[in-house]
Amino acid sequence: MLVLVSGNGSNLQALIDAERAGNLGGARIAAVVSDRAGIFALERAKRTGIPVHTEVPDRALPKEQGREELSGRILRIAGEYDAALIVLAGFLSILRGDLLTLYEGRIINLHPSLLPKYGGPGMYGEGVHRAVLAANETESGCTVHIVDRGTDTGPILVQRKVPVLRGDTPEILAARIHREEHTAIVDAVLIMAARFSAGYKPL
Ligand code: GRF
Repeated sequence: MLVLVSGNGSNLQALIDAERAGNLGGARIAAVVSDRAGIFALERAKRTGIPVHTEVPDRALPKEQGREELSGRILRIAGEYDAALIVLAGFLSILRGDLLTLYEGRIINLHPSLLPKYGGPGMYGEGVHRAVLAANETESGCTVHIVDRGTDTGPILVQRKVPVLRGDTPEILAARIHREEHTAIVDAVLIMAARFSAGYKPL
C-alpha cells in the first residue's frame, strides 16, 4: 500500500509499528507520498527505510487542474509499486481524476470527526474541533472511510468515539481524538486486507 501524508505522521507511525509487530494483516507499506517538503512524516518513513516521494501541488495551475495533475503523479507512483491500497493518513490535498476511477474502493481516508458530522469541504484540522465545541456536542471521534468523489462522503469502515469534556479546547479535544485515530487507521487497513484476501474486487 501507499501511505499519503501532509504533516507529523503519527498515524503513519501507527501503521509502521503495526506492520513491524506483524499486526497489519499482511499489508506492507511500499512507499510514502507527501504533498509538502520537510515534514516529520518523511523522517519517520526514511528512518524505517520506506521509500519516500515528495509531490508538491503545482500552485501555478488553476485549482481543479492542479488537483488532477497531482493525482496523476500519485497514480503513477501507485503503479510503480503496484499498490493495492492507498491510505490517506492526514493528507490534505484533494484527489481527482483517473486516480479515483482506477482506485475506486481502494483509497481510504482518516477524518477527525464522527462523519457524516463535521465533514465536507473546508472541514479539516482544528476547524473541525472548533465546530464540534461551538455546537456543544457531547461526543466526537474519528472516522476512516472509503474515498468516493465527494468530500468525506464515502462508505464508513471504522469509527471511534471520545467524549467532549467541559473545559475542552480544540487542542485538547484534537489530542484525545488523535490517540483513537492510531487504532482506527490500523483497524481499517486490517478490514481492507481481509477484504482483499477474500477476493475483494472493488472495480
Ligand atoms: C489527523 O488528525 C487526521 O485526522 C487529520 O490530520 C491529522 C494527521 O495527524 N486528517 P498525523 O500527521 O498522522 O500525526
